[in-house]
Amino acid sequence: MVEAAEVKAQVRRYYQATTEDYLKYYQTDWHHHMHFGFDRDLPKGGNPTEHLVRYLAGLAGLGDTGKALPDESPLVLDAGCGVGGSAIWLSRELGCRTVGITLVESQARMAREFARRGQALRTRFAVNDFQTPAFKEKSFDVIWAVESFDHSPDKAQWVKVMAGLLKPGGRLIIADGFAASPPRDASQAKAYRHFLEGWAVPHLCTFAQMREYGADAGLELSYEEDLSFDVLPHSLAIFRFGLLFIPWRWLKRSLGFSSTEKLGNALATFYQYKTLKAQLWRYGAFCFRKPG
Ligand SMILES: C[S@@+](CC[C@H](N)C(=O)[O-])C[C@H]1O[C@@H](n2cnc3c(N)ncnc32)[C@H](O)[C@@H]1O
Repeated sequence: MVEAAEVKAQVRRYYQATTEDYLKYYQTDWHHHMHFGFDRDLPKGGNPTEHLVRYLAGLAGLGDTGKALPDESPLVLDAGCGVGGSAIWLSRELGCRTVGITLVESQARMAREFARRGQALRTRFAVNDFQTPAFKEKSFDVIWAVESFDHSPDKAQWVKVMAGLLKPGGRLIIADGFAASPPRDASQAKAYRHFLEGWAVPHLCTFAQMREYGADAGLELSYEEDLSFDVLPHSLAIFRFGLLFIPWRWLKRSLGFSSTEKLGNALATFYQYKTLKAQLWRYGAFCFRKPG
């Protein structure tokens, strides 16, 4: 088992090296999300990543706050915020107040700039470790974790920490990969390893473990859903991108012009689809509620 400090260092190195690649792939002039897209009922010409955020906001019970006074609108912690995609959308479209935290200074800086350009006025971004966050207990109405929870080295503890930060009645939203069937042979085991290591993910937990972590933290499960089918088209698009990029990244890495993290990212974009199709993992959404 890799030490928590080593996981944190790997995650930081990974995003320091690859955030620019995400921005190119995701066309950041269009949006700032670093996660899978969601295709169910996607309007023609719609943006699949933004569509996922809209869907999850519905699960979290976040609607348009309309003319609510700023300090009456929901306070959302975006735990593992990337370059601010969700936090900016929730602030701009629904009027939420959002605080985004990331391990990477350059991501926080970009998120502030994107928020400024997008006129998302009720957003704040900081570098902070979500295993030991610098917030008071019972601070947030919603805690939002889109594809960041999988980086946690101690998932049970993470859920307890998040439960502590929620106000009574608050909600914890998680959208991420979850372990499903174990690899059936050496080739599947290799594919699964490349998928996780390439994206700096120490391990995935199962749906059953997720429920258990919520219950152990005193949270009620409001909702869970397997969204694998809905993210598959986007997973395939990322896979094709990987096909193009692996030889290029491999060559640059061999010549010393690129990093292990960038090559790992290209390999993971390829293997995430192979392993999703083989049902070694699935994509799920959970919503927990803190009683009170
Ligand atoms: C795949 S990105 C997702 C970003 C964002 N949620 C989105 O959907 O666009 C994962 C994010 O989790 C953050 N992260 C991972 N481990 C973290 C930790 N221990 N503390 C804070 N943020 C963390 C990374 O810095 C990165 O911003």
